[in-house]
Order: sequence, then structure tokens, then C-alpha cells
Amino acid sequence: MCGIVGYVGNDEKAVEIILDGLSKLEYRGYDSAGIAVVENGEIFLEKKSGKLENLVNSLKEKDVFSNVGIGHTRWATHGNPTDRNAHPHCSNDGKVAVVHNGIIENYSVLKDELIKKGYIFNSDTDTEVVSQLFSELYTGDLIETMFKVKERIRGSYALGIIHKDYPNKIICARKESPLIIGIGENKKFIASDVPAILKYTRDVIFLDNGEVALIEEDKVTVLDKNKNIVNKEITKIEWDMDQATKNGYPHFMLKEIEEQPQMIEKTLSAYIDVEGHINFGKAFDNIDFNKFNEIHIIACGTAYHAGLQGEFFFKKINGLRTNVDIASEFRYNDPFLDEKSLVIFLSQSGETLDTLMALKLAKSKGATTIAITNVLGSTISREADVVIYTLAGVEISVASTKAYTTQVVTMYLISLYLAYRNKKITEEELQKYLDDVYKLPENVGNILLQKEKISNIAKNIYKKDRGFYLGRGIDDKTAKEGSLKMKEISYIHTEAFPAGELKHGPIALIEEGTMVVVVSTQDSMVEKVASNIKEVRARGAYVISVTKETHKEVIDVSDEVIIVNNNGMLLTPVLSVVPLQLLAYYTAVHKGLDVDKPRNLAKSVTVE
Ligand code: F6R
Repeated sequence: MCGIVGYVGNDEKAVEIILDGLSKLEYRGYDSAGIAVVENGEIFLEKKSGKLENLVNSLKEKDVFSNVGIGHTRWATHGNPTDRNAHPHCSNDGKVAVVHNGIIENYSVLKDELIKKGYIFNSDTDTEVVSQLFSELYTGDLIETMFKVKERIRGSYALGIIHKDYPNKIICARKESPLIIGIGENKKFIASDVPAILKYTRDVIFLDNGEVALIEEDKVTVLDKNKNIVNKEITKIEWDMDQATKNGYPHFMLKEIEEQPQMIEKTLSAYIDVEGHINFGKAFDNIDFNKFNEIHIIACGTAYHAGLQGEFFFKKINGLRTNVDIASEFRYNDPFLDEKSLVIFLSQSGETLDTLMALKLAKSKGATTIAITNVLGSTISREADVVIYTLAGVEISVASTKAYTTQVVTMYLISLYLAYRNKKITEEELQKYLDDVYKLPENVGNILLQKEKISNIAKNIYKKDRGFYLGRGIDDKTAKEGSLKMKEISYIHTEAFPAGELKHGPIALIEEGTMVVVVSTQDSMVEKVASNIKEVRARGAYVISVTKETHKEVIDVSDEVIIVNNNGMLLTPVLSVVPLQLLAYYTAVHKGLDVDKPRNLAKSVTVE
């Protein structure tokens, strides 16, 4: 949520490099974009509402060259998405420029205080108090001033600040919101995420909470919250830039949907060894799995839906009481947690603040925490007792797809690992469960072959303004994810209900032509699902079913049918979500929408 880039180097390429970096971070927010550099001893500032291209176009006419600068792409929280609220924000004296990701919670108190001192505010944002405060508290020393500012501000922040008196330095600080530092030869970078700087360097420092860093072209000085210099480890980023490019696809979302067989395969080969045993390296060495009497799975959005699939694994395979919660609710539901609780946190980005706060709560109660995340070095990955990475590769499209399927597969493997280690399943049973997971890549590949058919079905629904998604049991959870995908990228208002629940109220909304998407993969429920389809069709619904070819009862009563192979009771849902991803994708494409950057959303949600 909000993307930050900064550059200081021995050349005059700050504008070019910052704009390029911002183009890789637009998934974090696209309400406005802005840049500030020091040019001829003065701060040059340009900011524009709307997508980054507006800023790029406005800079085309202006030849601005500088060796130091900061840039920002915004997801609006405080203040409308206008030019004046776009970052960077400057101090009244024009000496300081600030970019910020996060929320300054006590901004209104600080603002009143600064206004009384004569400061004039030019935006409605929380961030502007930081630029004015930095100027107010300025001692001539950037590090010292940053610590003074930190003493006054509350909330979450990744801050990048330049001062016109230091045309070769960036001062930055982090609390909760992510910030990385890229190390190049005679050039250094700051960014919210790796893709912004990967073109220039693979050597990265992850700033920790409370740290302050002074960035110069040939040196980086990091200080902890007690102002002691810390020796930070440099991490080499192993993945490639082509993972962060569309590679010929019209949208990242389609590329990421199509990458699913490969990413599932990658996950399997990373965590299943040649002898057919699940192997998470040393990750679980210090964990006594026998002590757990319950599992909590905590996440938001799509990751929450993946958690709902995981619930079935832990209950069926491990026989453990399992509870799945939305992270933003979990904290306020007075959860029963103690040292016998195992809490699994799912987060693609590893930065979702709601999930992070829930993680902190679980740790404070003595629970053992496992993070399943997709981003190396992310905050959640570093806060949890154990981290298992999903190997989905970089996910750029705001709508999550391959992260979801790899999260489900990773939970399946953890569930089997735990059951085998606790002797709840035999070697033979383990291998039987694994046989199902091995089939997934090929079976997902088979669904992708149906994309033209799904695109044609999408042509029948893209003009609809609402619809329902139905399923029973584990299929209800898949339906929820399908419905979220449709809502977020096609803006069609869909709701998912357990198929049996519809008659208790929502069926009142079914009329001639209402779209109803049904998921049916569970053999034990096929007849009941077929009855539910008949009920809505009798009222004029247009029914699209995602089902297995053996579910004749469902096929016979549906208007459109998308067939998925049988992949076992627990894993067929990994297949049935794929047509729903494609259906949402093509619906948005036929509507002519910006699939990868749906309105009002951002990829990494670092506000509560
Ligand atoms: C939906 C989507 C969001 C995220 C949610 C959690 O397509 O992307 O619902 O799943 O914001 O994000 P992470 O997984 O990064 O914690």
C-alpha cells in the first residue's frame, strides 16, 4: 500500500531510475504519483493524481537531472486522490521533501501544534506533518533530526526524506511498513519492494522495525532504535526480472493464472524430497508438534479463503480442532490462545498489517506461529517463529491467483508433515495423499486448455450487474474465492453462499437471467447441489457450473459447464478455483477494465 523509491548515485539519473522503480510498484497503489529531487541546490517537485503515466507525461517536457531523489505511488488514506495530496510533501521552507507509506496516527495533534507555530498546510494528508516536523526539529544533522521526528510520531511508517542542504543523502526510517535498501556500486536505492530496484542490483538490506538509515552513494549507515550502528546482513535476491514482467501476456493476471502448474510443481519439488517425504529443512526442528491441541489459521481476503481450504486438511488429516479467522477480526474476538495453540498466518505479501497485528497478539499469548508467505524477508516472515515460503514467484496483479493455489498446496504439505510426524498417518497413507498432490500440475494445465471456452462464457455475463456463487462444504469455500475475484476485477456485485443456505433468504434476489455460478466437486453432495440448481433455475437463473464429469446430475441442469478432473476430495478444489479465476479475468477483459489495477485496491495492504 503506497510504493516508495529513492535513489542516490554518482550520476544524474535519479528521475529516470525513480520513475522506472515506481512503474514496478504501481500495484501498491495508483491514486497518484510524485517525485522530488535536489536540482541545483533546490528541491524540484512534481506530482500528479491518477496513474504513473500522468506524472511521466508531465515530466517529459522538463529536463530534470539529479543524483538524489525520492518518488511515491499512492493508495489514498487521508485526503482525496488529488495533485495536492500526492506525495512527496514539502516543508513550508521548501527544504525538506518526504515520501511515506503507512499512517501517522497522531497527525492531527501534531498538525494543530505546527499550525499554532505558523506552519501552513497544503494538503489533507497525515504525511505532511512529517515534512513540517522535520523542518521544525531540524538540527543540521539528518540522523539526529530523524530520531527527534520518530519520538513525536505514532503509527506505521516507511519514510524517505531528502533535504536540499544534503544533495547526496536520503534519510529513512521504518516502523511496520516495509522498506528495503539496494546496494549498488556508487549507487544506493530505497524501495518498498524488491521489483523496484532489481534491474539495478540484487544486493538488498531489509530494514527492521525502529531502524533509521542514512543512504549515501558509497555507504549506508543503519542505526537501531537506541541509535547504535548495526551491521546489516546483505541478502542476494535470487529471482529474475522476467518474473516481474508480463512476458508477452496482455495482463499479469493471465500470466500468473497460467503459471500455476509450474509454481505448484516448484513448491512440490522444494518440499518433497527424492524419497517421497515432506521436508521443510530445519524449519520445524525446534517445534514440538505433539503439544498442539488446536490450530488457528489467520489471514485476509484471498489468503483467508486459502485458509478455509486448509481447515479441511487439518481437521481430516490431523484430526485437530481448527479455526479460521479473518485477521482484522481475530484480534477483537478474544481468541483463546496459549502455548498449546499453533497459529498459521497466510499472507502473499507478508506485509498485511491486519495479519501482522494478529501475529503479534498470538505471540504475546505464547502460541507457536507459522507464517506462510510469498515474499522473502517480508515483515510477517521475520516476525513468525517459523516461515515456510510459497514458491509462487512474484505476484504483481492485484488479484491474487497463484499465491492462493500455492498457499493451499503448502498447507496440505504441512498438514501431512504434521500428521506423519505425530504418527497419525502411516507411510502408506502419506504416499496416498501425496499421489493426489502430484496430479495437480497436469490437471491445472488441463483447465487452462479450456480458456477460450471460459472466455466465451464470460461474454454471456459481462453485462450483468450481480450474481451468486454457490457450493457445499469445501466447494463453498472455493465459491467464496471465485466471488471475490469476480467482484474485485469486474466490479460485478457477486455474493457466495453455501448452496443450501440460499433458500433461507437470498433466493428472493433470483430473477430471470440472474447469474449463478455453482461449484460441485464433492461426490457426497452432488444430488443436493443439483436440487439447489433446480431451485434457482426454476426462478430464471442462468447457471454456470464448475464440476467433475461424473456429476451428471449437476451437468444436466446447468446452462454452462466447465469440467475439472477428479483430484481427490481435498484437492479437487485447487482445480475448481482456476476456471473461476479465468471467468473473472475474461469478464473484466470483455468489460474493457484495467484487470491488473482494479479501482480502489492495492496489492499490499499496510493499513488497518
Ligand atoms: C484478492 C487479494 C486480497 C489479498 C489480501 C491479503 O485478490 O489479493 O484479498 O489476498 O489483501 O493479502 P496478503 O496475502 O498479501 O496478506
